[in-house]
Amino acid sequence: MKILMVCLGNICRSPLAHGILQDLSDKKQLGWEVDSAGTGDWHIGHAPDPRSIAVAKKYGVAIGQQRAQFFTPALFDQYDYIFVMDHTNYKDVVAQALSEAQKAKVSLFLADGIVPDPYFDESLFEPVFKMVAKRCEELIETLAKS
Ligand code: 4NP
Repeated sequence: MKILMVCLGNICRSPLAHGILQDLSDKKQLGWEVDSAGTGDWHIGHAPDPRSIAVAKKYGVAIGQQRAQFFTPALFDQYDYIFVMDHTNYKDVVAQALSEAQKAKVSLFLADGIVPDPYFDESLFEPVFKMVAKRCEELIETLAKS
C-alpha cells in the first residue's frame, strides 16, 4: 500500500500524518510506504517546521529527516490513496488529475472535516498532532482490511 499525505506547505500537517502512519505501519509490519507533499512550492527540500518536529518527538515519532516535496501530477500514479488536509488542498490536487481514476484516489484525510493549519497559530500543533494520530490509527484499521 502506498499512501501520500498532502497539505499546503508540506512542513506542518502532512509531515505529521506521513510520520505517524509510517510509524504505525512499521510497528505492525504492514509494509506500507507513506510519503507527503505540498501544493505550494515555498518549502521544497526543507525539513518540517520545528514545531511539528517537536510535537512529534514529544509523542515518540521522528519526522526531522523528512524533506518537503511539491505535489505534481506524476505522483497520482505512484500512490493508492492521496489524503489531503483541507478543502483547498482537495481543490488544488483534484484540479491536476488527468482522469477520473486519478481523481478518485484523492480524499479528505478527516472524512468529517479538515485539519486546521497550525502554521500561524502555535497553539494548534498539539491538537493537530492528536487529531492526526487518531485518524492514522483508524486508517491502519480500515485500509488494512481493504
Ligand atoms: P502546512 O502549513 O500546509 O500544514 O505545511 C503551512 C506551512 C507553510 C505555509 C503555509 C501553511 N506558508 O505559507 O509558507
